[in-house]
Amino acid sequence: MIELKSTRDREKMRRAGRVVAEVLEILRRSVRAGIPTRELDQIADQEIRERGGIPVFKGYHGYPASVCVSINDQVVHGIPGNRVIQPGDLVSIDLGAIVDGFVGDAAFSMFVDHPPNKRAEELLRVTEASLYKGIEKAQAGARLGDIGAAVQEFVESHGFSVVRDFVGHGVGRQMHEEPQVPNYGTAGRGLLLKPGLAIAIEPMVNLGQQYVQVGADGWTVTTRDHSLSAHFEHTIFIDEDGPEILTAIS
Ligand code: MF3
Ligand code: CO
Repeated sequence: MIELKSTRDREKMRRAGRVVAEVLEILRRSVRAGIPTRELDQIADQEIRERGGIPVFKGYHGYPASVCVSINDQVVHGIPGNRVIQPGDLVSIDLGAIVDGFVGDAAFSMFVDHPPNKRAEELLRVTEASLYKGIEKAQAGARLGDIGAAVQEFVESHGFSVVRDFVGHGVGRQMHEEPQVPNYGTAGRGLLLKPGLAIAIEPMVNLGQQYVQVGADGWTVTTRDHSLSAHFEHTIFIDEDGPEILTAIS
């Protein structure tokens, strides 16, 4: 069942989105060479709670932290710990919070100090831009496949690959609601998008091949070919006037 949100729900989702956006901005400024990823988790946890939120990742299917920190060939779901961030690392930060019963979910990637090379820099730019290609298609009257097709076409036109094994999702009272929102697909196919639909669009893009694997910790997803991977995500609310990005920095 796909739940359409009311105007009241939307107000609450705006608040959850704002908390996530603010805390992600703090994390962006905190990421630097020499910091153990555990410290980013402590910052995330504290800053979410100070804003009246609850970290939604913590305890989700047993996930042990409040944020995901995925580095270089890690695609998503990296668990913060003792690993120390290095200059040139590609760091992806994914954060979710629940505020007054509704969830906000967003992610970004960044290089620490400098990108290691031109192609890596292009991966970051293209992945972020692909998210906005998808968001543009999140319009009432369009189809779910329009979103995935737009992301995929843009990514592949630059010679990168879209991860298939993980996808975006509906979002609301739960972090993961129907429908699934793939970053690949066929324009004109799939679910008809309606006003009141809230979704998280989250392209995961690899510099090399699309294939990924889950590590021994049961969480960390890495590229099989160990190529770099980037990830950007926003929570979006669709209404008659188009998509509203609930997790944007304003
Ligand atoms: N943004 C991710 C998602 O939507 C984060 C989930 S991490 C988890 O799937 F640990 F909570 F699973
Ligand atoms: Co998500």
